[in-house]
Amino acid sequence: MNSISLAEFDNNWYKPGRSRPTQVLWFLVGLPILRSSILPFSSLRRCLLRIFGARIGRGTVIKPGVRVKYPWLFVVGDHCWIGEDCWIDNMGPVTLGNHVCMSQGAYVCTGNHDWSDPAFGLMVNSIQICDGAWVGAKTVLAPGVAINEGAVVAAGSVITRDVPPFEVHGGNPARFLRRREIKTRRSGEKDLRPTLTRGRGQSSQPDASTALDQSHAERSVYVVTGGE
Ligand SMILES: CC(C)(COP(=O)(O)OP(=O)(O)OC[C@H]1O[C@@H](n2cnc3c(N)ncnc32)[C@H](O)[C@@H]1OP(=O)(O)O)[C@@H](O)C(=O)NCCC(=O)NCCS
Repeated sequence: MNSISLAEFDNNWYKPGRSRPTQVLWFLVGLPILRSSILPFSSLRRCLLRIFGARIGRGTVIKPGVRVKYPWLFVVGDHCWIGEDCWIDNMGPVTLGNHVCMSQGAYVCTGNHDWSDPAFGLMVNSIQICDGAWVGAKTVLAPGVAINEGAVVAAGSVITRDVPPFEVHGGNPARFLRRREIKTRRSGEKDLRPTLTRGRGQSSQPDASTALDQSHAERSVYVVTGGE
């Protein structure tokens, strides 16, 4: 009979790339500090990750609750945003380009199993999220995928295939939804965000000069920026 025996599972070949004491120190000290809210600033979280071997660029915002399995396998470019409760489960390298936004609760999964192997063998892949991409809240990125430049992954999606540049994909399994068109700024114009805001009991109208797609503007109630 063909049967699976997890007792036969052997991952001794897998080496995460740092000594056991470093791994234990990260697990017992570094990770709890990274995840907690006691570090008020992203700069301190960036610093902590760098101490443990991550390469983190300038201006990257890292919110509380972020979990990183192995910081030394984590490379992040400049001006990225990593939202609350993102889980970088990086048994293999995870690389973010510049200006990447990962929204709340995204799960980046690099470990896998050979389900045809009676011993359920471990497989490890890398994941790449390229410049300007947006990974929506609560998405799952399966091992080995690439989110190419400027691509958007809709909230709650499961990505099992690469997402081509400047395409919006969503669903489970994710499918192509539309092209991502980036508006061009007129000279001197700083910000193309909708100005329709509702806060502290006030409301305002969308600024026609932004030339935004009206349906987007109508649905935009609050304008949220990525600062700390
Ligand atoms: C994808 C998203 C960006 C909307 O893009 P959009 O171009 O305005 O999309 P629309 O609302 O016009 O919908 C276009 C299509 O995508 C589908 N769609 C939108 N969001 C989807 C999602 N999360 N999953 C699956 N399909 C989705 C719509 O059903 C629609 O399908 P249809 O053409 O078959 O009717 C938005 O839905 C989203 O997921 N944003 C992420 C929000 C987030 O993570 N926020 C974090 C806090 S800042």
